[in-house]
Amino acid sequence: MTVQPAVVVYEVGPRDGLQNEPEAIATADKLELVDRLARSGLCRIEITSFVSPHWIPQLADADEVAGRAARYDGVRYSALVPNLKGYERLRAAGLAVAALFVSASETHNRKNVNCGIAESLERFRPVAERARADGVGLRAYVSTVCGCPYEGAVAAEKVAELAAKLIALGVDEISLGDTIGIGHPGQVRELVRTVSSAVPLSRIALHLHDTYGRALANVQAGYETGVRTFDASLGGLGGCPYAPGASGNVATEDVVDLFERAGVATGVDLSALVDTTAWLEAHVLERLLPGRVLRARLGLRDRTRRGAA
Ligand code: HMG
Ligand code: MG
Repeated sequence: MTVQPAVVVYEVGPRDGLQNEPEAIATADKLELVDRLARSGLCRIEITSFVSPHWIPQLADADEVAGRAARYDGVRYSALVPNLKGYERLRAAGLAVAALFVSASETHNRKNVNCGIAESLERFRPVAERARADGVGLRAYVSTVCGCPYEGAVAAEKVAELAAKLIALGVDEISLGDTIGIGHPGQVRELVRTVSSAVPLSRIALHLHDTYGRALANVQAGYETGVRTFDASLGGLGGCPYAPGASGNVATEDVVDLFERAGVATGVDLSALVDTTAWLEAHVLERLLPGRVLRARLGLRDRTRRGAA
């Protein structure tokens, strides 16, 4: 019998999704969201961001969310960290993984963190040293890998070079971010091949936004090229505030359903996840999210209920 390799579905909705919400969301709702996600079998969750509250007011309660989120065996929480100050906040809150972030294009990096790529790497050096000494895991995003909203095309070689520098700093995992969701399957295959000539394939994750509706196809392309970790956001929530027009990540429900139907175990309880996203829509956001499997499953439940009545 052939045993399919498992994949990690890395939930980033509480961070990448909520950082973009126009309305303030109560800290208690964020805590309930994280708790529900952890209980649905997601074992990697990015729960908030230790960036400047002036830049991202939506996540100004990061210290409280990270400090109070219920911990579960086998579930690792991460948060974005742009500098040493962010790392110190993460450490005080006791999170397991710090997620650094840098763009492959200068202009997006400046818009996002107010400095150039080389300076971002310098800011990461003391964070990486501290994380290693403290036993904290390190993930790093490279953004704009398939194209930049300000500069256009981005060479895969440039992404590979940056990924290699991050691995040399001590990063465990590089998440390649198609920030504006412009990539296509052929490009994702080529990108993964190029980056994996500079860093081990097992350290590469994909973070695919869905602006052009190709994120799920890009997940499949990444899987076929050997990637086994995929970032996703419940219901497809989110975007990047410094990449105008970009929509949310590929929906977590769509990724889980794609893999489970192909016999690739994710460890995620899809029904519990759909319940969580439906709760978020109805009780917190008061609007519908775009995830396709979510809409299909909720529509089916609705029709079944009406049929039974
Ligand atoms: P700056 O204004 O250049 O920072 O911002 P500064 O060092 O000059 O400090 C200014 C003030 O911010 C000071 O406070 C600092 O203490 C404070 P003041 O003296 O004025 O009261 N400060 C901080 N406060 C809290 N936590 C910190 C921190 N650092 C400084 N860590 C900075 C530089 C990096 C802080 C700012 O640009 C920033 O916070 N940017 C974050 C932008 C962001 O979060 N973007 C969205 C996430 S990236 C993304 O979504 C892409 C991704 O999903 C992957 C993909 O899709 O490709 C990851
Ligand atoms: Mg993102």
